[in-house]
Amino acid sequence: MTAISFPFWGKYFRLWTVGILLFSFGQFACSNADKQGIVLVAFGTTVPEANAAYINIEKQVKAAFPDAVIRWAYTSSFVRKKLAKKGIDIPSPKAAIEQMHADGFKTIYVQSLHVIPGSEFDNLAFVVDDFNDAYNDNCNVLLGDPLMYSPSDMRALSSVVINIIPAARKSSEALVLMGHGTSHASNIYYPGLQYYLWQADTTMFVGCVEGYPSLNEVIKSLKRSDVRKVWLMPLMIVAGDHARNDMAGTDDDSWKSRLEKEGFSVEVVLHGLGEENAIALLFVDHLSKLMHQAGDIK
Ligand code: CO
Repeated sequence: MTAISFPFWGKYFRLWTVGILLFSFGQFACSNADKQGIVLVAFGTTVPEANAAYINIEKQVKAAFPDAVIRWAYTSSFVRKKLAKKGIDIPSPKAAIEQMHADGFKTIYVQSLHVIPGSEFDNLAFVVDDFNDAYNDNCNVLLGDPLMYSPSDMRALSSVVINIIPAARKSSEALVLMGHGTSHASNIYYPGLQYYLWQADTTMFVGCVEGYPSLNEVIKSLKRSDVRKVWLMPLMIVAGDHARNDMAGTDDDSWKSRLEKEGFSVEVVLHGLGEENAIALLFVDHLSKLMHQAGDIK
């Protein structure tokens, strides 16, 4: 009995290797086509601590869609450029979608993590439409609504907000939510949310850094409501630059300083909305809705 010669094994070993490589490549190519590709699209932040919100949203999305491939894109070119200088490369929505297409995904779910359907969301919608026009062959991109979009979003968000207020806040104490605000028509979502919140609690107020209602309007309302203490919370996905400086900063013109100057005692909550699971789950709901539309829900 002679042992099978080494060159013989070698030949089969090489064939095996080629076979395995072909098999894995085939698996790779068709597994992406079958997989759900998700691009989470946020404004972006340059504040490292603020990333906690994005990390939490990704965790919740991953838990809901364990087989999906999740990637990120930031709409703010300012944020992307600033991060690139630190060696952190986050693509634009267009680049992220094109990469997913190149990687073989057939359906790409783009989930907006914006608060309102403002100009950042409009631009994102243009990018998605352009892509679908250009590649109407075999790849389809679907876009998920931002946090506030439909009447059911407003009901869901207002009930979540009521539940995420720190337990230490007493009913005689006010809650002031600091939103971003915009000159875009969708600024109306801020006074819109205010109306929903007032149905549940008349000492909850929405203000905007760059929109209506401003802090001046909020202060007028606070004085009418006869409260002494105010809890300040961002109505933004991340507790980034606006939350840390414009809201909670030590400068004379921060919201905290201005409220204190008006005689209120102020308690700051420096959490982005995305750090709250209940908020992250609202984005998961928007993704689920999109997958239902596409007939692709698991
Ligand atoms: Co801003």
